[in-house]
Amino acid sequence: MGQCSIHPSILSADFVNLERELDRIRGADAVHVDVMDNHFVPNLTIGLPVVKRIAESTALPVDAHLMIENADHWAPRYAELGLASVTFHAEAAAAPIKLARDLRSNGSRAGMALKPATSVVPYLDMLPELDLLLIMTVEPGFGGQSFLDLTLPKIRVAAAAAADAGLELAVQVDGGISVETVERAAEAGATIFVAGSAVYGAENPGEAVSALRRMADAARGHPDTTRKK
Ligand code: DX5
Ligand code: ZN
Repeated sequence: MGQCSIHPSILSADFVNLERELDRIRGADAVHVDVMDNHFVPNLTIGLPVVKRIAESTALPVDAHLMIENADHWAPRYAELGLASVTFHAEAAAAPIKLARDLRSNGSRAGMALKPATSVVPYLDMLPELDLLLIMTVEPGFGGQSFLDLTLPKIRVAAAAAADAGLELAVQVDGGISVETVERAAEAGATIFVAGSAVYGAENPGEAVSALRRMADAARGHPDTTRKK
């Protein structure tokens, strides 16, 4: 039994046919829903009413990624929908520890995301407050961008800190994940992989999910021996 999860992002799906698009990924571990407000990122997607209907319409756990300002106010509203996890951006939260606690008390797993240029070091002390740390492997805002290898050391630092502290924390990666890059991210310590274009751009999204999961699990079985302690 592998330990890696694949969360397809519906950003690359057909937004007019969401029910059908959700059905095409029924073998995935969760559905990743990208919420953008055209302020935190230069793009606009969907908000609470549509995310609510997605959660009501699929048997998959819903993993919400909030690329929005004023996360302190909005993120708990998403947790109240009963989503499996709600991830806010550290750069958009005034009080990230309070916010993570709010999410957990609303019954969602608490996730925090870091843009590629944001260091994880200032946040290491608050990792016990989180269930999920999302390390963005592209600049947030758009699908179909190239994986940024410069984020690999940050994935290693976060995964090692979580392991050293005996935390359950999952390290999630999002952006440019494909059969070309999934092994690098897995070897560095990620266990949850978001993939938009690599899944929905494939002829058979279900097979694309299985292939990514197989590769990630195999890479996790052969940890990067060059990792420095
Ligand atoms: C980008 C979003 C991603 C996006 C990934 O800001 O957070 O979830 O859908 O798309 P790909 O996998 O195509 O890079
Ligand atoms: Zn995302």
